[in-house]
Amino acid sequence: MNMLDREVTMPAAVALDAPLSALLREGTRAEHEQAENEGFVSRLMSGGLDVAAYADLAAQQHAVYTALEEASAVVRADQRGTGLVFDELTRVPAIERDLAYLHGDGWREEIRVLPATETYVARLRDVGGDLPRYAAHAYTRYLGDLSGGQIVQRMMQRHYGMGVAGLEFYDFPEIVKVKPFKDLYRERLDGLALSAEETDVAVAEAQEAFRLNRAVFVELGERHPGVSR
Ligand code: HEM
Repeated sequence: MNMLDREVTMPAAVALDAPLSALLREGTRAEHEQAENEGFVSRLMSGGLDVAAYADLAAQQHAVYTALEEASAVVRADQRGTGLVFDELTRVPAIERDLAYLHGDGWREEIRVLPATETYVARLRDVGGDLPRYAAHAYTRYLGDLSGGQIVQRMMQRHYGMGVAGLEFYDFPEIVKVKPFKDLYRERLDGLALSAEETDVAVAEAQEAFRLNRAVFVELGERHPGVSR
């Protein structure tokens, strides 16, 4: 469906003039629950898959963050958006180290980007330079990595015997305390002073970002069905 044809769905409890960070959180609550409960994610998190499945996820993340961080460079040059781009969040170098560990030095030739990932990347390339939509995509990924991502890292270590190598993606060495950083990020979102129309666009795009992530999980699930017990 075209984004412009879709109404933003928002729980009635959230005031329409609430800060952007609150609108994003409430506007994606249902999508978050769906993403968290997607078969591939729950199997990976509960030990039903293997390091190869995680390595495949990391390959998809490489494609996504390459496009997202190209968009960050555009937004950084925009006076209104510059405060939303943090060097501390940059993920591509860490993912590349993870991929070299997980797939070996020839990882660039070895990894396979899934069709759903191509769709996600195409969306980022299309709209990532537009501030409200960039805010939506950056919010979805970076606040997610700083939140549930930390749980993902622990579960990979617990279930698949991984250490630090291969999981650098979830480490933010320059962010000493995650909670205050997430609060600062939310302040920056709220400080963008988007118009009402731009705010609607941002919330709809965040819902789309979650759907794009979920579609990637669905395809990863087809490639990694796990063992039936
Ligand atoms: C393994 C599955 C996941 C788990 C266990 C998980 C868990 C969590 C938890 C516990 C929080 C709340 C943290 C807090 O209040 O500080 C959170 C927040 C968040 N997660 Fe997830 N998550 C998962 C998957 C995802 C996915 C797939 C995405 C999007 C791609 C995502 C995006 C977010 C975002 C954007 C937030 C911030 C919400 C806000 O405060 O505005 N999460 N997650």
